[in-house]
Amino acid sequence: MSQYWSPLVQQLDPYVPGEQPKDQRYVKLNTNECPYPPSPRVLAAIQAELTDKLRLYPDPNADLFKDAIAEYYDLERQQVFVGNGSDEVLAHIFHALFKPNQPLLFPDISYSFYPVYAKLYQLAVKQIPLSDDFSLDLSAYLQDNGGIIFPNPNAPTGSALGLAAIEGLLQANQQSVVVIDEAYVDFGAETAIPLVKRYPNLLVVQTLSKSRSLAGLRAGFAVGHPDLIEALERVKNSFNSYPLDRLAIVGATAAMQDQTYFAELCQSIIKTRTTTITRLQELGFHVLPSAANFVFTRPPAGNAETLYLALKDQGVLVRHFKKPRIQEYLRITIGTDEEMQILLSKLKFLVG
Ligand SMILES: Cc1ncc(COP(=O)(O)O)c(C=O)c1O
Repeated sequence: MSQYWSPLVQQLDPYVPGEQPKDQRYVKLNTNECPYPPSPRVLAAIQAELTDKLRLYPDPNADLFKDAIAEYYDLERQQVFVGNGSDEVLAHIFHALFKPNQPLLFPDISYSFYPVYAKLYQLAVKQIPLSDDFSLDLSAYLQDNGGIIFPNPNAPTGSALGLAAIEGLLQANQQSVVVIDEAYVDFGAETAIPLVKRYPNLLVVQTLSKSRSLAGLRAGFAVGHPDLIEALERVKNSFNSYPLDRLAIVGATAAMQDQTYFAELCQSIIKTRTTTITRLQELGFHVLPSAANFVFTRPPAGNAETLYLALKDQGVLVRHFKKPRIQEYLRITIGTDEEMQILLSKLKFLVG
């Protein structure tokens, strides 16, 4: 705290990302990164861009990347907004589209960046409790609001809603923007993107950090009615004209275009998730159903935080949240089969 800080900065409660340790090599299952490399086409595209062109600014509109997304989802370019990771896209959404005079609604157990952005942009919030089984009941969102946001599948629980439930909410809530954060959708849920044609207040956000294995490149996007996209462009162009650099634009474009590699990668994660869940259950863990590249699980006995620390001590990083309702749980990213084997053998020793 310093006397030079603005009153707003004094009140901020910044997001704390999962650990990215530098002290030793861990089996890293704590930040939902993908254990497989990005498509070789991504690396080739980035290599080809590594020329003296780097002295020139990139395309401020990243049209190449927007067109690849539009083609993939059968949309117009004007329905696509891109940003430096979906976190940046989310920030602009909070700034541009949620109304400050009524509460923004989101689940009490959800992506912990939402309350941070709400504070940064001075929005009132109302957190809606998940049901006791950690499912999301959208009927609880039928109340006055300045906007609604939730991940589908939800994080850190991994549970997914079907499109019928989402469409029901859109029909009943037409006065504010509804944002579906689909960071994990490719691992087993259904995207709401086809609904954007019919619901002008729907925005769907996706990232290339998970299913396209590009967390390090920082590329994300939002899809919605051109009027919503224009609002985001207005904020972006009042903040940073070039959020995506030349390497990110060509790399992200190649990732959207390599459908075969993407589909295989998602299938591998889903297959490893299925065996991991079975093995955890055999060890007595309670595991929530997951449509994501992670599982949310309660150890059979003892304390989740102790187990998290013991695993870390043995070179395996998972995520523990010291928060009401979920402190008994661990969130474990799905890695390769070999990584999960290491995790499971350590768990067997620790809880057995
Ligand atoms: C639900 C959710 N949304 C958005 C993000 C942000 O992803 P990125 O900024 O890497 O696109 C994450 C990252 O973990 C997430 O879990």
